[in-house]
Amino acid sequence: MSTTLSIIKPDATARNLTGSINARLEQAGLRIIAQKRLQLTRAQAEKFYEVHKEKAFYDSLCEYMSSAPIVVQILSGENAVAKNRDIMGATNPANAEIGTIRRDFGQSIEHNAIHGSDSSENAELEIRFFFSKLEIIE
Ligand code: CMP
Repeated sequence: MSTTLSIIKPDATARNLTGSINARLEQAGLRIIAQKRLQLTRAQAEKFYEVHKEKAFYDSLCEYMSSAPIVVQILSGENAVAKNRDIMGATNPANAEIGTIRRDFGQSIEHNAIHGSDSSENAELEIRFFFSKLEIIE
C-alpha cells in the first residue's frame, strides 16, 4: 500500500464535481484517507508549484489555483501514484484517454480538473505540504 496527493482543482469544485471525481477514484480501488476543502493564497500556490517556477505557465497557474476553493486529499492503494495518474489521464484533457477524469471533466490544460503527485518522493512532500500527521488516519 502507498499514498499519493490529489487536488480537485477550482474548475471542478466550481462545477460541483467533487463527488463525481471521488466516485471515479473509489471505483478504481483508491481509498480517500484524508480530505479537506480550502482556498490557497497566491503565496501558497507559488510554493506548491515552485518546481514549475521557470515555466511560461507558472504565473497563470498560481493565479488560477488560488482563485477559488480546491479539495486536497490523500489517496491510498496499491501503487497509488501510478494508479491515480492512470485514472486522471494526460495533463492536457484533449490528449487524455476516454474514460479518464481529465478527458471527461477537464476543460483545458490549465483547467484540467485534478492534480496528482508524479512520484512517491513528491507524494510525500506534497502530502506534508497540506496535511499534519494528526489528520491522517490510515
Ligand atoms: P498539474 O498536474 O497540476 O501540474 C502542473 C500544472 O500546470 C498542470 O497540471 C497543468 O494544469 C498546468 N499547466 C498549464 N499549462 C501547462 C502546459 N503548457 N504544460 C503543462 N502543464 C501546464
